[in-house]
Parts: sequence; structure tokens; C-alpha cells
Amino acid sequence: MPYYSDEIIEEVRSRTDIVDVISQYVNLQKKGTQYFGLCPFHNEKTGSFSVSPQKQMYYCFGCGAGGNVFSFLMAYENMTFKEAVEELAPKCGVTLPQREMTYQEKQRADRRSLLFEINKEAAAFYYKMLRSKDGEQAMAYFTKRELTADTLHKFGLGCTNKYSDSLYKYLKSKGYEDNILKDCGLITIDEKRGGHDKFWNRAMFPIFDANGKVVAFGGRVMGEGEPKYLNSPETEIFNKSRTLFGLYFARKTRREQFILCEGYMDVISLHQAGFDNAVASLGTALTEGHAGMLKRYVKDVYLSYDSDGAGQKAALRAIPILKNAGISCRIINMSPYKDPDEFIKTLGAEEYEKRIQNAENSFMYQVRMMEKNYDLTDPEKKSDFQKKVAEMIVLEFPTQLERENYIESVAARFNIPKDALGKYIIELGQSGIVSKKSSQNRENSRKPAQKSKDDGMKMSQRLLLTWLVEQSEIFPKIKEYVNPDDFEDGVYKKVATEVFTYLEDGKAVDTARIVDLFMEDDERKIVAALFNTTVGELTDNTDLSKALKETLLRIKKHSLELAQKNGANLQVLVEGKRKLQRLERLDITI
Ligand code: GTP
Ligand code: MN
Repeated sequence: MPYYSDEIIEEVRSRTDIVDVISQYVNLQKKGTQYFGLCPFHNEKTGSFSVSPQKQMYYCFGCGAGGNVFSFLMAYENMTFKEAVEELAPKCGVTLPQREMTYQEKQRADRRSLLFEINKEAAAFYYKMLRSKDGEQAMAYFTKRELTADTLHKFGLGCTNKYSDSLYKYLKSKGYEDNILKDCGLITIDEKRGGHDKFWNRAMFPIFDANGKVVAFGGRVMGEGEPKYLNSPETEIFNKSRTLFGLYFARKTRREQFILCEGYMDVISLHQAGFDNAVASLGTALTEGHAGMLKRYVKDVYLSYDSDGAGQKAALRAIPILKNAGISCRIINMSPYKDPDEFIKTLGAEEYEKRIQNAENSFMYQVRMMEKNYDLTDPEKKSDFQKKVAEMIVLEFPTQLERENYIESVAARFNIPKDALGKYIIELGQSGIVSKKSSQNRENSRKPAQKSKDDGMKMSQRLLLTWLVEQSEIFPKIKEYVNPDDFEDGVYKKVATEVFTYLEDGKAVDTARIVDLFMEDDERKIVAALFNTTVGELTDNTDLSKALKETLLRIKKHSLELAQKNGANLQVLVEGKRKLQRLERLDITI
């Protein structure tokens, strides 16, 4: 897969200083041995983004973005690995070998980048068409929807004409072949009838990924008609449940929350009205994948779903998904209007801003929606409702403090006698039903607990790798006790093996080279985290020694437990136990 030889890549990397490169994009300040600045990959006010000249790596303690100089350019400038090498080589005086690639070679070398290219070509094609004679109807449609020329430009909006193969012909004329076109999501190839466009006679909305590359399209009928929207199918570059419309722009907002809405037009209207933090999940309900994406950028989200029944249902589904991802949300009330687009058109941005300020706490929203199912004029139904509220409080809030607060607010808001509610909640705690339910709840929450134990273990392993890189003098003291096999399978073990080899050879660990052993962005991030782990402010050497020893013990114990579980042979286990005992007595000082 890498196009250039390892030697060449190594040469470029070692001649380039990551601090020089990143300072062209981020204002960096030196603190100790590191440089710090505002992370360009998520919205923040405090500088959690660090660049280490020693390790030739960057890492953000806030969002986990990290890697070497190549991965920085790949993430920030949205380059491929090859492009990043080509960008840096001339600047550090490395001449890259020149060779013309054939179409086939290129296709094999980088199908993804070809698909990006095709989607970009298509976007340009649609964009141009909107501004041509064939685009008059679509232009009139967008104008009717009050989109300004700036907005049309910013979102790259376009259209298709009435012919069902205009894009196909255009892409063929650009040299793309059927065997890639059939996978770009915009063309269907029929053996008998040839190629056809998926979209025709529609207003076109390009969908950008977080880096601003077009990965798919939504196409709307101009006016009434079914289906209202068509969307690109999933492709190698388009994963619906991880794509948020508007994220590329929202990512750069200075606001601390995102506004999550349902439709393309909602996002576009909001941005046009100055809410540059609006995003939408497209044509699919919100998924864990979406929530994970959101979590990279914000801790809080305002839900601005449609105010009709479907929108309320969607909001009720989204709330727990967001909560599980650690995002708290508030719900914007748009009544009497259907969606943010209509709201803003009628009442304007200032009114919408007020609605944001008055957004409803998500639990209160859940209770309010639930209340609609009960006829509160009937005392029996009313009691059922109130009991249900009590159950929800018990299940939702683990601490007494939270429960008290919610009892107070809910009682006031929904006209429930506060003392009776409180008492009933205590009764619930002692009765069978809820203890069964809350044990189910505990069942559910066991997963995170398990996960946090795993996370703790990974944390220890990361810590040790960071230490080995930063203070390689500890290696001789500990190498008798740990080896790469003690590390988690996958990236951790692979990196540990590399680190141990460098140290065994008495060399400084070339962290930036290790990053390049991993092709996937997610893996590179993990690698960056492996070399950038710290525990609070451990400046005192006694503390450090203690922490190191504890870390070693934890790693070793865990690896021994695993070996035992996997039925390792007795001799191995006994030997492991003996090492552990010696380690427990050992006095490591650093
Ligand atoms: P306008 O009616 O133009 O204001 O669009 P909207 O963005 O307000 O759309 P709406 O609220 O009706 O739907 C929300 C989102 O669901 C849309 O932006 C689309 O992504 C998706 N969607 C709506 N209708 C369809 C459809 O018929 N098919 C598919 N696949 N997706 C749809
Ligand atoms: Mn709408």
C-alpha cells in the first residue's frame, strides 16, 4: 500500500520537524519540553493539544486526536498518506522518485481516494448545473426557500437535470471506468442498458465528512413528490451511521454545544441564521456511532427535532443514546412551528436563541411526553402516572442527591404532592418490583463497569509505554519483569514489541516511525495515546517510583490472570507468579 519506500518515508520524517509544520496551523506555546495550543480537531478554550519535539508526535488530551507529522496533515488537510509525504518532501530537500502511474495502478493503490475524487467531481458537476440554464428550476426552488447565494456556495448546493445519465456521461468523459463508478453510490450500471444516474431532476445537497470531503449526496424533489429525498447508499467512503450533515462547519464553531436536528434544510437554515453549530443525522435515526462522533466535539447537545409526533418519538429515542455516550441534552421547543427551518423563517434568529436559552431538561421532557399517555382527570390514571414518574426517577438517578432534586422539580412541574412522591420512591426502593428492575439496571450497568476495568488496565499499559519512551533508563530495571506479551492483543502488543526492540538495542524509541506502522486513523490515534499518557502531577520521584511499581504489578497480575484463564501450562504460571512476588518486594527508584 505505501507508494514510497520505507527509507524515503523515514528520510522525510526525520528531516521534518513536527513543531515547524504544526505551528503553521496552530498557535503553539512552549511549556517545558512540550508545545501546547488549542486543538484544531475539536472546539476548546483551554489548550489540551500538545506537540512533542522529542517524540515528533502530537496528541490532544481533550479529544484523543494524535499521531505524527504525516497523520497531522492527513487529518488537518485531509491528505492521503502519499500526499502528505509529497507535501513535506520538497520542503526538507528530499527528492521523491518520479513515476507515472497507470489508471489501473492508481485504482488499486487507492480506491478510496478515487471514490472521494468522483464524489468531488459530481459535486462540481451539480454545482455548475445549478448555475446554468438547466438549473433554473432548482435555483428558483432554493430562492423560494430563502437561501442566499452565500449559503448555496458554502454548502456546495447544486442540482441535476432531467436526463437520467448526464453525470454518468460526464464522469466517463473524465476517464472513470464502470468498475469504479458502480461503487461510488451515484451511478447504477446495468449490463444491457448501460450506466444511469441515481439522481435526476433533483436539488442536490452534498454531504461532507468531518474533513470537508464530499462522501455522498441527498437529492430533494423540487416541490411535492415521493420520495422527498433520495440519499446515496453506503459506500466505502460513506458510513451513514457515522456521518453528520454540517459537521465540517459545526466543528469550527466557538459555541460549546451542538444543535442536533433532523433535516438538511434545518441545518442549512440554522447556519444561515448564524447558528454555526447545527448538525443532523441523515435519513436514519441517531445511532451510537453518531453519538460517538458528537462526543469528540461537545459534551452538550440541544435537540431541535421536528415538533410533530415523529419528531418527538425520534427525540425520545435519541436521549438515551446520547446519555449513554456521555452527552447531556436539552430539548428546544419549536412550537407552533414544525422544524427549525420554519421557525427561523417566521420568527427569526433572535427568537430561536431565546428558545435555546429555555430548552428543556431531557428528563423533564421524557416525563412530559409520558404524561400525554395518561388521562389525568381520572384519579386512577393519575396515580398510575405518578407511580411511573417515581419509577423513572429511581431508575434514572443513582444518587440520593439527584433524586431529591428531581423529586423537587418534577413535583412542582407536574403537580405531584412532593412528600408523597418522595415517600413512594423510598417504598419502591424496598419493594420487590423496583429492586428487580434496578438489578436489571445494574445488569445493564455492569458492562460499563467491566469496561472501566479494561480501561484501567489499558491505562496502566499506556502509562508504562509512555514512561519507557520518556525515561528509557528505567528499562533495564524492569525488563526482567515485563515483556510485550503482557500487553493487550492488537495495537498495544504491536507497539510494545517495537518499543522493547528499540530499548533492547539501546536505541531511542522512534515513536513517529511506530505511528506509520499503522494505516488506520483509529489505530494511529491509539498509538499516539500510548505515548502520551500521564497520571496527574507526579513530579516527586518517590511518587513516580511508587506509581511505576503499581503499574507494573497491575499489568503483570492481569497478564497472569489471563494466562491462567487461557490454560497456560503450569510451569509458565509458576514462573510468572515467582516474578510477580519478586516484583512485589522490589524497590524501584527512578
Ligand atoms: P424540507 O422538507 O425540504 O424542509 O426537508 P427537511 O430537511 O425538513 O426534511 P424532513 O424533516 O422531512 O426529513 C428529515 C430528513 O430525513 C431529511 O433531511 C432527509 O435526510 C431524511 N428524509 C426525509 N424524507 C426522506 C425520504 O423520502 N427518503 C429518505 N431516504 N430520506 C428522507
Ligand atoms: Mn423542513
